[in-house]
Amino acid sequence: MSEISVDTPKIDNSKRTWLIASTCAGAVGGVAVAVPFVSSFQPSERAKAAGAAVEVDIAGIAPGEKITVEWRGKPVWVLRRTPEQIAELPKLDGQLADPQSHRNPAEFTPSYAQNEHRSIKPEYLVAVGICTHLGCSPSSAFEAGNPALGADWPGGFLCPCHGSTFDLAGRVYKNKPAPDNLEIPPHKYLADTKILIGDDGKA
Ligand code: FES
Repeated sequence: MSEISVDTPKIDNSKRTWLIASTCAGAVGGVAVAVPFVSSFQPSERAKAAGAAVEVDIAGIAPGEKITVEWRGKPVWVLRRTPEQIAELPKLDGQLADPQSHRNPAEFTPSYAQNEHRSIKPEYLVAVGICTHLGCSPSSAFEAGNPALGADWPGGFLCPCHGSTFDLAGRVYKNKPAPDNLEIPPHKYLADTKILIGDDGKA
């Protein structure tokens, strides 16, 4: 059994935090809540712990919605971006620390995700939901103009621990504590609506 949780395309005021983000437990302990799990898939607990790849059916993800699955004990997000969200990405380059994902590509961005949307298909972002600063799990802040983030906030992710912000491609904004963009895990499409996370056939 494994887990999938679903985020609606709203501001995540609950500041959900993946409980493995223990390095930040002190900073977010008061607001951390368990993510509700609503589905399951195949690999055994033992296989998962050993790092088995995880097959994910993405057919049910609505535009603007994000699901979270577990791979190697980490939360992995699959976000289905809307056409408007995709169109916004190139406009943000000047505000981002590493818009083209040149930093530490071996660790954070496989070659097939070294592009504006950091993904194989522009519509779907697949990213490890762990901040590259100290390991908290950022919250979804998809709504543009979020009052807490400013009228010009275009939608993205907010790490509640020390305030790093990321766009909807997991690219970190300039002058934030997080040094790198969010990690894109190895993955590939098995079919139009099926992704394998943890194996891109290149290892
Ligand atoms: S863990 Fe410090 S900003 Fe994310």
